[in-house]
Amino acid sequence: MELPFAESWKIKMIEPIKKSTRQEREVWLKEAHYNVFQLKAENVYIDLLTDSGTGAMSDRQWAELMLGDESYAGAASFYKFQAMVQKILGFEYVIPTHQGRAAENVLFSYLVKEGNIIPGNAHFDTTKGHIEARKAKAIDVTTPDARDTQKELPFKGNVDLEHLEKILIENRGNVPFMVLTVTNNTVGGQPVSMKNIKETCELCHKYNVPVVMDSARFAENAYFIKEREEGYKDKSIKEIALEMFANADGATMSAKKDAIVNMGGFIATRHKDWYEGAKSFCIPFEGYITYGGLNGRDLNALAQGLDENTEYDMLQTRIHQVAYLASKLDSYGIPYQRPAGGHAIFVDADKVLTHVPKEEFPAQTLTCELYLEAGIRACEIGYMLADRDPVTRENRFGGLDLLRMAIPRRVYTDNHMDVVAAALKNVYDRRESITRGVAIEWEAPLMRHFTVQLKRLK
Ligand code: F0G
Repeated sequence: MELPFAESWKIKMIEPIKKSTRQEREVWLKEAHYNVFQLKAENVYIDLLTDSGTGAMSDRQWAELMLGDESYAGAASFYKFQAMVQKILGFEYVIPTHQGRAAENVLFSYLVKEGNIIPGNAHFDTTKGHIEARKAKAIDVTTPDARDTQKELPFKGNVDLEHLEKILIENRGNVPFMVLTVTNNTVGGQPVSMKNIKETCELCHKYNVPVVMDSARFAENAYFIKEREEGYKDKSIKEIALEMFANADGATMSAKKDAIVNMGGFIATRHKDWYEGAKSFCIPFEGYITYGGLNGRDLNALAQGLDENTEYDMLQTRIHQVAYLASKLDSYGIPYQRPAGGHAIFVDADKVLTHVPKEEFPAQTLTCELYLEAGIRACEIGYMLADRDPVTRENRFGGLDLLRMAIPRRVYTDNHMDVVAAALKNVYDRRESITRGVAIEWEAPLMRHFTVQLKRLK
């Protein structure tokens, strides 16, 4: 008999989590103004808000914490970290930062000027924020295939090369770089193929435009290349990762994802002038260039995390769990962005809460319903997150309206996934009775989803 699949690790330490009653959750959610970011984490049973900084470190990472060198400058921890980034990504110059958005802030301070155009495959919100804050424009060049959640394709995170070329031609001399995000978080943790990575870099370089890889989930992307792209089956994740970065000019990294640390990030590049330029912004924003907002011990844990999470078994365990949750949703007929992505399942809320008008935010409503049902916290990647058009101030209803259930790395078991799927099924079964959504009572002018206050419509 063939042995079933099981995790490539065992558990050494546990953290209790608390169940609650529906009555309690109704009070807590009302107090949180129907915005799950405002909930106390202790009132959440299974927390799928994000996979960022929420992973469980390994025994080796915890051991590395004890070996941290906390010298202000030139710490041994920095050199260990630098050597690992050079080995895994293949870039010579490395600057640590306290997280991914800090890496964006430091690098973009050097590279982005007012009026610039920066194309990308679905820029993450902070990436877009750092571009727009500098009065430049982010243009999305993701493949249109990503917009159809039911279309089953292996690399839905890909760049639409024709669209990219059009932008490069129309804006010659005004594109400081292109952002290539692997995996593509916003459209569902969908991977980018090696072929598309290479063609994107080639196309950009033809127009003298460098490529910055937003690498938060690069190891998951490498795993999908190994599993789904011809010619990569026998290559190791480390070999594939090196090949992914080989044609790019630099990278920003949120190490809170694929390096499995609770805080950390970096910039890496092959260009000395980028390094010199970014360095001068690192010092005032993040700190001296050998610690960049991190403790020596954090740099050690990050280096260890990068090494172990670019091993096949670790990624197989991770992605197997995401696929397991997806298979449960399949058996209940719940529609999500297909195929399952690397770090999360994105439920197509528009197709679930069909009676809730878009003006009443279906995905946000579904987020509330899932929390009320079982204390599960997911997040909205939809109309609320899309903010308003800066000119017309109208809500942007043009994109997808998704409920994201992001799975922290090495934290929950498949039993937790069973609970999540069952809770969602219960909501799905009573979807016809959910006819009203939420209305905004207060919102911030930018990135409103974190702090928005809502009321429940009856
Ligand atoms: N790039 C991508 C693709 C991301 O998903 C994130 C963060 C960042 C950059 C910023 O990194 O948080 O370390 O500053 N994504 C998290 C999420 C927050 O929940 O998807 P950070």
